[in-house]
Amino acid sequence: MRQCEGFWPDPHRLNTYGPDRHGGDARRAWTETYRIVRAETERRAAALSPEDQVVQSMPDASPIKWHRAHTTWFFEQFVLAPHAPSYRVYDPGFAFLFNSYYINAGPRHSRPKRGLVTRPDVAEIARYRAHVDEAIARLLADAVPEVFDHLVPVLEIGLHHEQQHQELMLTDILHAFSDNPALPAYDPDWRWPPCAMHHNDWCELPEGIHTVGHRGPGFCFDNETPAHRVLVGPVRIARNLVTNGEWLAFMRDGGYARPELWLSDGWSTAEARAWSAPGNWHEIDGNWYGFTLRGLSPINEALPVSHISYYEADAFARWTAKHLPSEFEWEVAARAGDLDDGFGVVWQWTRSAYCPYPAYRPVAGALGEYNGKFMVNQMVLRGSSVATPPGHARVSYRNFFYPAARWQFTGLRLAEFPD
Ligand SMILES: [Fe+2]
Repeated sequence: MRQCEGFWPDPHRLNTYGPDRHGGDARRAWTETYRIVRAETERRAAALSPEDQVVQSMPDASPIKWHRAHTTWFFEQFVLAPHAPSYRVYDPGFAFLFNSYYINAGPRHSRPKRGLVTRPDVAEIARYRAHVDEAIARLLADAVPEVFDHLVPVLEIGLHHEQQHQELMLTDILHAFSDNPALPAYDPDWRWPPCAMHHNDWCELPEGIHTVGHRGPGFCFDNETPAHRVLVGPVRIARNLVTNGEWLAFMRDGGYARPELWLSDGWSTAEARAWSAPGNWHEIDGNWYGFTLRGLSPINEALPVSHISYYEADAFARWTAKHLPSEFEWEVAARAGDLDDGFGVVWQWTRSAYCPYPAYRPVAGALGEYNGKFMVNQMVLRGSSVATPPGHARVSYRNFFYPAARWQFTGLRLAEFPD
């Protein structure tokens, strides 16, 4: 199982630097981490023109310019406003434009209309980012120890939040470009990562009680807690992801035209949206092509299938007479090192509904709205994707999307019950 190398400050290592964890080394480490994360957002936007950065191709996706501004507002709202009394808000009108869904943080612009915000323009958003970056650097250098201790946990959430938006920047611009008849390339040199793909190899999980969820040092989101014990198995879980070649076999066998394979909601969604192949697939002169961040290229049957909804993943699993693993089956197998391409290729749909763990409590205040209020009607995905920034995901990470969503890099691996 491949896991991404992170650059995050290790809280235990920071504690070894000196008698206090808000000393100069800790301050330098957080300042540098902040700089690296913020620079990655700009790197992902750098190839895009101002026109590219304004487009919103559907209500679920946001303009690149909005991602750059919203992640900045997050630091202004949750780090600078409460912890830097002398901070001057860049523009009081930005809170309305760039608050996403934090009801506690005040009124906000309509999500489906983010693409209509042509002003402030891209250059203004760059100045907004620089203004906030300067203020954060000053705060990290000058905050008294008590304030520093309070702001670092929120700053850390802000950095992980920005990384989530970095992934959305790539998936949202891919969706926008997929609706452009010219099918432009975001990066002509973009490639799928190399995959292990050992076919028909299964790992056995005998029945047993396992601890799942985040434990130990390091950051996690609240939805990964509390760690708790679950009964898992007996089950067999595929080491490999399902490939494009296997998906083509499903299609040739009428997979999209056989209602007995589909959930009722899935069938009506597939009918309404005229799905007959994964997202971004195009049939040209009898051959299949996929539209990716490098543009249009022939489907490689050896690579993992991507841009499928939960409904399609479930139908495929039924077609094979297997099922999707639960999120706990996935986590136990991943912790044992039994999954190939668990991270960095495609998020993997599980059959687990996105629900709170036992005794889960969101944190108090506006940041309690981060995860907890979305815990209904969505399904959990595990692992991470090619678009996920290095160091962001972990074995207990719970991603979640509505079952019809397929603009992310989403795929699947199978599970089956032993005979
Ligand atoms: Fe956000």
